[in-house]
Amino acid sequence: MPFPATRLRRLRSTDTFRSLVRETELTPAHLIQPAFVIAGESISEEIPSMPGVSRYSINNLVEHAGEVIEAGIGSMLLFGIPADKDEVGSGAYDDEGIVQMAVRALKDAHPDLTVITDVCLCEYTDHGHCGIPDADGNIQNDLSVELIAKTAISHADAGADAVAPSDMMDGRVGAMRFQMDEEGHPDVPIIAYSAKYASAFYGPFRDAAESTPGFGDRRGYQMDPSNGTEGVREAELDLEEGADMLMVKPATPYMDIIRRVKEATGAPVATYHVSGEYSALKAAALNGWLDEREAVLETLTGLRRAGADAIITYYAKEAAGWLR
Ligand code: PBG
Repeated sequence: MPFPATRLRRLRSTDTFRSLVRETELTPAHLIQPAFVIAGESISEEIPSMPGVSRYSINNLVEHAGEVIEAGIGSMLLFGIPADKDEVGSGAYDDEGIVQMAVRALKDAHPDLTVITDVCLCEYTDHGHCGIPDADGNIQNDLSVELIAKTAISHADAGADAVAPSDMMDGRVGAMRFQMDEEGHPDVPIIAYSAKYASAFYGPFRDAAESTPGFGDRRGYQMDPSNGTEGVREAELDLEEGADMLMVKPATPYMDIIRRVKEATGAPVATYHVSGEYSALKAAALNGWLDEREAVLETLTGLRRAGADAIITYYAKEAAGWLR
């Protein structure tokens, strides 16, 4: 029945009515806190292009994790920045590497914290690519997949609760699943960066991880922002290869992909609200141009409404505080 009989505003008139008919829930349980760990002792250094986000040495990371847990966040996604980088990213699959040591320290201090590790070579290679280039600079898929699977096993050996491959090589989820099963980690889930787009919004992250490619760019393996159907295809392939959760990244420019992946697969979907999305909101907030709390919670609610089960965001700890 049309207006005037139907008036949607009636159920918007009080807080209680609004709560009764609210379709989307956002709680700290939906959020994952990313963190950067660096070599050294007692270091917390703020990332200039990400005010409020720091790189921590292991002992400071353990302390930071305590605050994240205290805020009500149950999981963290770890990125390592090694002291030395080389052509084949050896630091990524070194059992005494920065992430492996950080995982052990975190699980030791906070056994209930769910520690997810980002699995990629770009933070560990001196050329900054996510795989190994040949003489012409082309990233070699199958060789890179071998090293990426090796990295995942090493993270699981260190005690990672889940591994998250972000390299965008073809077939890496299947290789990781097969080899982790063989090596005694059949229960460690894979959170696959499935539809990962070649995005300008990774800029601040690359400052933080010192992982800007030394030559070329990542468009030969990360996705073209124009493609939606291909994003769904990537997600379906990862699911077939054994991914437990599918990820869409970045988040806000790709909310249609979140929705499409959710509807096409019915699988658990995560989205990554990336560094540049964080920095854009933070910069506007610091200038007094946006109400930070309202804008951030609206953004995260929108991602949940689009179909994301889990949201990886640098705002996790702060948002959890606001939600309480
Ligand atoms: C590594 C990786 C990147 C991000 C997560 N994993 C950078 C990239 O692909 O260049 C970006 C995260 C962010 O911007 O917050 N492959």
